Amino acid sequence: MQKVQFTETVLRDANQSLIATRLPYYKFAPILETMDDAGYYSLECWGGATFDTCLRYLDEDPWERLRNIRATVKNTRLQMLLRGQNILGYKHYPDDVVKTFVERSVANGIDVIRIFDALNDLRNLDSAVTETVRNKAVAQVAVAYTTSPVHSLENYVRLIKRIEEMGATELCIKDMAGVMSPSEAYNLVRAVKSESKLRLNLHTHCTTGLAYMTLLKAVEAGADIIDTCVSCFSGGTSQASTNTLLYALTQLGCETDLKADKAKEINDFFKPIQAEYIASGLLDPKVMGTDADALVYQIPGGMLSNLVSQLKSVNAMDRFDEVLAEVPRVRRDLGYPPLVTPSSQFVGAQAAQNVISGERYKQISKEVKGYLKGEYGTPPGIVNPELISKALGGELPFTGRFADILEPGMERGKLNAGPLARSVEDVLSYIIFPQIALDYFAKREEIEKNVVPYNITRKE
Ligand code: CO
Repeated sequence: MQKVQFTETVLRDANQSLIATRLPYYKFAPILETMDDAGYYSLECWGGATFDTCLRYLDEDPWERLRNIRATVKNTRLQMLLRGQNILGYKHYPDDVVKTFVERSVANGIDVIRIFDALNDLRNLDSAVTETVRNKAVAQVAVAYTTSPVHSLENYVRLIKRIEEMGATELCIKDMAGVMSPSEAYNLVRAVKSESKLRLNLHTHCTTGLAYMTLLKAVEAGADIIDTCVSCFSGGTSQASTNTLLYALTQLGCETDLKADKAKEINDFFKPIQAEYIASGLLDPKVMGTDADALVYQIPGGMLSNLVSQLKSVNAMDRFDEVLAEVPRVRRDLGYPPLVTPSSQFVGAQAAQNVISGERYKQISKEVKGYLKGEYGTPPGIVNPELISKALGGELPFTGRFADILEPGMERGKLNAGPLARSVEDVLSYIIFPQIALDYFAKREEIEKNVVPYNITRKE
């Protein structure tokens, strides 16, 4: 009988997709022990946007959060999401910083690192994968899934073969916008499973309503692990429900280690938290609905909320539909990058800029210029040559591996992080989010002066 395992995403992706990653540690701490006993393959609990929000909004040290989770979750694998050479930031970092970050993540408790690159440029995965394996953690390498005239099943299978050759321990197909259809999932998973013996995870979102069908077909085709979320934080821009899929897949004869009674207990625990976020307005019921338009625009959840706040800030919400229609055009001009952090951010911002200013590419953002210069890697398709000459003048794009021309960053980071940085972990926080980390370090001094375990006593 086929075995299916579950990765629970409530602490990371669902948190990020539905409530802007605003779930503080003290709110979920009481359920960690139950989560550890439930029989999940892993708990996705760190990385992605959690790192940034801990420092920026929650007055939490992300490293301390990880150590706290690890102290309670003794048996289940802890998983994080890492943006390859972007680490958890929005630009490329030098190799010594990437390697130190990976080494410290494992040392603080991470077992599985899901590593991806927005452009699927394998040169941007290499350092992180090598270092993850060297530290004896699981390097689950993800391909960012998108559909476009330059993306095909054959290309994805070839890419995944190369990922296996580069030393990945596990594979993941990452459908961040929820655009993968059941038939695409079935064909791709089957093709990958016939080429590779590695365990395969399918990651998708409910945004377009396809997720349950897509996951079912993926399991039928041999997917080993699926990403799901407790039902009260499932749906919409989040993952499909753990509890529902467990019920359906068990009935279909799949074997799994996940216990239904524990999964129910965890869901019950999160129900009042979900209600609280709805009441405060942070969880907008709109993001929990189904949006088939996303099949055309391919906009992941986080990008949508960024676009809305960008348009609101210049009083241009009435241009929202025009901006949505401009996104696929900008994407075509840029050679069809998958829309995932950081490309989702700068494609969206450029599309908004093009509409608001009334002239396409009147202003070209620093990030789009960087992309055209080759600072993020090689675009999947052909970039509009007019746009290149407009953005770069006569300058030729860089075609090498961008991190190769970056100066090492750890020593300089140590010098600049200042006296309040207490550890290598603090230096890493500083290198990735300099000002935000410095503000947090100062706040931490205050918090420690005033209260005992602040993450337990503190009120919002
Ligand atoms: Co996701």
